[in-house]
Amino acid sequence: MMLRISLLLMLLVQLTRTQTMSKTIIDFCSPSDPNSCGPGGKCVELSLGNRCECPSGMMGRKCRRPCQDVYKSCARWKSEERCHWARPISPFFADNCALSCGQCRNNGKQLALALPPILDNIEWFVGRWEAKTSAPYRFPEPMSGPYKEILDVQISEVPAFDRPPVNISIRAESLDGTDVHVEFGFLTSKPFHEDTGFVETNKPDSGDDLVSIELVSNTGLMLIEEGTVRGTQIRLETKYKKAMPGIYRNELVKSKRMFNLISPTALEERVVTIDSRGVTNKWLKRYKKVFDYMTDLIPTPVGKKLQ
Ligand SMILES: *[C@@H]1O[C@H](CO)[C@@H](O)[C@H](O)[C@H]1NC(C)=O
Repeated sequence: MMLRISLLLMLLVQLTRTQTMSKTIIDFCSPSDPNSCGPGGKCVELSLGNRCECPSGMMGRKCRRPCQDVYKSCARWKSEERCHWARPISPFFADNCALSCGQCRNNGKQLALALPPILDNIEWFVGRWEAKTSAPYRFPEPMSGPYKEILDVQISEVPAFDRPPVNISIRAESLDGTDVHVEFGFLTSKPFHEDTGFVETNKPDSGDDLVSIELVSNTGLMLIEEGTVRGTQIRLETKYKKAMPGIYRNELVKSKRMFNLISPTALEERVVTIDSRGVTNKWLKRYKKVFDYMTDLIPTPVGKKLQ
């Protein structure tokens, strides 16, 4: 009997071990980088991925995400004890149901919509940004003259079974008020280190986080850009562009752009386009942050307070 139990235990240990080995380890921080958890945060080494021990009320990479549950099912999952039994296999519940699982406290305040951990890599891009130009250059299409623009990147509802996006709404208006371009769309991200729930084999140790932006415009244009995110830089290349037929356009054959955070409240967009005549255009646009959604906290609804 004794022997059988220890055999079973050995088998279990073996099973957990092989599973841990082939799982994607997601590190939110590195103990050798004192800045990786931001001011007041401390990096804790865990077997399923390093995590930040953040100042009260915060969580995530660099401790910049307000502590809250991402999925509306967290309270139920907790009652099913998933926080507890899933812990050795996956950091999913601790990351996504941080409040229910007792990983952090939100001090009675939370974001209206939670930013999912999968979007921690573009947290710096979330915000309302404003720009004013002295030239008509603009991506994806030029304006009739110098213009002002609002680029609004906001947290969106998290779909139950799909990749969570942030939503984008852009409005550019020429300074004389005669030309208005509006675009709506989404940004989605696929971090290289992602807890897919599947065991992945032969995966390299490091790689790029992928992003894509899909936009539609009031000028009859549909656009898909794809690229990578590294630190506080997003690089994009236009992969698909479809215009409403019958409207004359100086067709772009290639376009690339890049968003760079140059300070927590300043963003730079660099664009390079090549049109069908082979003419290359390059320009730079600066935005300043006029609203920070990440600090726009509301009281946690009573009755939902879990701690
Ligand atoms: C983004 O989605 C949220 C929630 O669905 C909505 O409240 C918000 O107005 C949208 N923002 C933009 C910029 O489209």
